[in-house]
Order: sequence, then structure tokens, then C-alpha cells
Amino acid sequence: MQSRAEYRRVDEGCVSGVITQPIAIDSRFDFPGLVTPEGAPWHYLDTAATSQKPEQVIEAMTNALGRDYATVHRGVYSRSAEMTLAFEAARRRIAAFIGGSESELVFTRGATEAINLVANTWGLANLNPGDRILLSQLEHHSNIVPWQLVAAKTGAAIDVCPLTDDHQIDLAAAEAILTPQHKLVAFGHVSNVLGSVLDAKRAADLAHRVGAKILLDGCQSAPHMVVDVSALNCDFYVFSAHKLYGPTGIGALWARADILEGMPPWEGGGAMIDRVTFEQTTYAPAPQRFEAGTPAISEAIAFAAAVDYVTEIGIERIQGIEDNLVSRLRAELSAMNDITVFGPANSAGIVSFAMDGVHPHDLGTILDEANVAIRAGHHCAQPLMDYLGVPATARASFGVYSSDEDVDALIEGITRTRRIFG
Ligand SMILES: Cc1ncc(COP(=O)(O)O)c(C=O)c1O
Repeated sequence: MQSRAEYRRVDEGCVSGVITQPIAIDSRFDFPGLVTPEGAPWHYLDTAATSQKPEQVIEAMTNALGRDYATVHRGVYSRSAEMTLAFEAARRRIAAFIGGSESELVFTRGATEAINLVANTWGLANLNPGDRILLSQLEHHSNIVPWQLVAAKTGAAIDVCPLTDDHQIDLAAAEAILTPQHKLVAFGHVSNVLGSVLDAKRAADLAHRVGAKILLDGCQSAPHMVVDVSALNCDFYVFSAHKLYGPTGIGALWARADILEGMPPWEGGGAMIDRVTFEQTTYAPAPQRFEAGTPAISEAIAFAAAVDYVTEIGIERIQGIEDNLVSRLRAELSAMNDITVFGPANSAGIVSFAMDGVHPHDLGTILDEANVAIRAGHHCAQPLMDYLGVPATARASFGVYSSDEDVDALIEGITRTRRIFG
């Protein structure tokens, strides 16, 4: 483990955090969760569900909950003023990470809440009977159910964009489906099951051509590739900290400033108001208008520490690590007669597969005995499972800490499973 230097960037409003100088070449050592209680390596291949956390994030969270802890936005004492600076600096750093500005970034509990926020504010205000929403066949339930709920309330209808033969969102089909009745396109930037990467700029152009807004579910893209919301020309982008080496309980909605400014509030309470009387309440400007109640202070600071961690290593470098492992794993699995590999060849950090005669849950259980953790199930994408014609898949997903040893252990575990099942 590299030696750590604590820093206090009070000028930037950052009172909590730890940096490693230089970032460890083998970043695995930054992650205390990657060993078993007995001290053996834990081959964690479930990063798409949630990533492990580096020491830097854990320490930032510990300091924010401990020595630096105070509320934000209200205190007249210096600790609270410092914490407010740190909290707002976190917002600035997280917004910059995706090419946005702090006035456009709303803290939410995660991507799920961010999508529900858009559905219940922009959606309720802008969708009417006869309007249409375009989703795709590969969406996570978080990017389906909020739209079904808002469609039921507004009378809008939902269309589903099919996939290409290699399991990518078929943008030629989207182009044919889209009409001026469509007010919103909501697509996964990267599929959490297949790793399919959307050509988001083209999808945004297609949506805008018919006057629709586009929301990108960035849960799986933010941890894997450079995201620049301006270059993508999207209207909404949502992501969760816990998939990006940060804590659970926090995520973000980025929305274009003019859209966000026009959105009515959703949840009411403290912090989102300008002035309250029993006769009438006026609201704070965005983003505060969408952040009712005491925010997740320590989580926001740890979220920013995660973004700093990724930035210091370099997201392109992380992408390179993951892409190499995906290529190798796909090649080795494809060479096995009893394995079907799903998704496109250039899947982003994620490989989903099925093994003939072995339920993914059985495979997952046998792999667990060898300290290999994969995900088995429908991955909160039941319409996609229906489309693939399977009840579940086995999924291996990579992160900055993943290595060839993890792939070796997975392949060995698959071979052992084959032996057990005869
Ligand atoms: C593509 C995608 N969208 C949305 C979500 C929901 O994220 P969260 O549970 O952090 O709100 C996930 C998490 O699995 C995901 O992978």
C-alpha cells in the first residue's frame, strides 16, 4: 500500500479527503474489501451491481462523519460554514466530472430517485394524453417503472425500441418509431446486463429532431468512460455514486440549466424554499429546489472523493483495463461449446452469459466457494430477459481493481462447475 497524505483544501472548500501519491499502480491494494476474512484474494466480479470502495473514499466519509461533521447551509458557526463549502465543492467536482456545471447538478439518493424526480417534475408538467415516451428493450426497471407510473397519471403512452442482432439499442428503429408525439426518449447509456454502449449523441440528435428530450441512464457509463454531457447533447443524465467507487445513498441528476429552471418542485420541506407562509410558499432556485430536507452530507463528500480517485487514475485507463478483461473473457467463454455469451463484442466492462444445463444461481454458488463473486439473476431487467429468452444470466463485471487473476479464477470455477454437473 502506498503511503497516504491527508490534505485539507479549505480554499476549495474541501475539508475532508485523502489522496495517494502517486496512485497505486495496482489499485487493488486501495480496496480493503477485496480480501476474504481469511486474507485470501476475493475475486469480485459484481462491480456493475455496486463497486468496492477505496480507502480514499472510506477516509473521506469517516472524516466527514467524524472530525469535520456539521450540518450545511444553516450554521452560523465556522465548522458548518466549512462543511457547506465542502458540500458545494463536492457538487462542483461531481458536475465537472461529467462536463456539467454545479447549478445543473441535483443530489439524489441514486439514479433511481433521479429518474423518479424527472418523471414526477418534468414528466407531470410536460406529458399529456396522446404524448409518447420511447424506452428500449434493454432498460433497467429503474428506467421503466417511473415512466409507467407517470404515463398512467398523464395519459401518455410508452413505446419500446428493439435491439439489433448484437444486442444494442437499434437507433435505425428508433428513428423510424419517433414522431412529434414523442416528448421523451429515455435510454441506458450502457446496458447493465449486456454492456452495450449507446451512440448517445446520435440518439440525442434523433430525439431532438422530433422535439423530444433525452434522458441517459448513466449508471454504467459514468464508471467506465469519459462522459461529457455537453458533447452528448443530452437533456438529463443520471448516475449513482455506489457504482463509481463512492458510497450508497447518493447519486445525481444532471439536467440542462434551462430545463431544470423550468421544473416544478417534487418533494417539499426545508432547504428547498425561498419563503414560506400559510398562504403561499415560494421556492429556491435549482438545484436547491429539488433537495428538500437535510442532504446526505458525508455521502456527497465521499462521492466527490470517489470522483477524484477515478480522475487521478484516469477514466480512460480504467476503461482500458476493463476493455482488455472483457475481450479476454468473451474470447475464452465463446470458445466453450456449452456457453452462450450475450451482448456486443465491445461490451463495456460487463459480460453476461449462460451455461447449458446449469442455472446461473448454481454457477454463482459454486463460484462463491472459490471466492469468485458474480451476479446471477434478471439484473432488474426482466423485459430484456424475456427478449433473450432466458430467466436469468450469469454476469461478470469489472472495475478498476479487476485483473487477469480474477478472469483465471472465474474460468477455473466454470470448469469445476462443468465437472460437478457432469
Ligand atoms: C443501468 C442501471 N440503471 C439504474 C440502476 C439503478 O441504480 P440505483 O439502484 O443505484 O438507483 C442501475 C443499478 O443497478 C443500473 O445498472
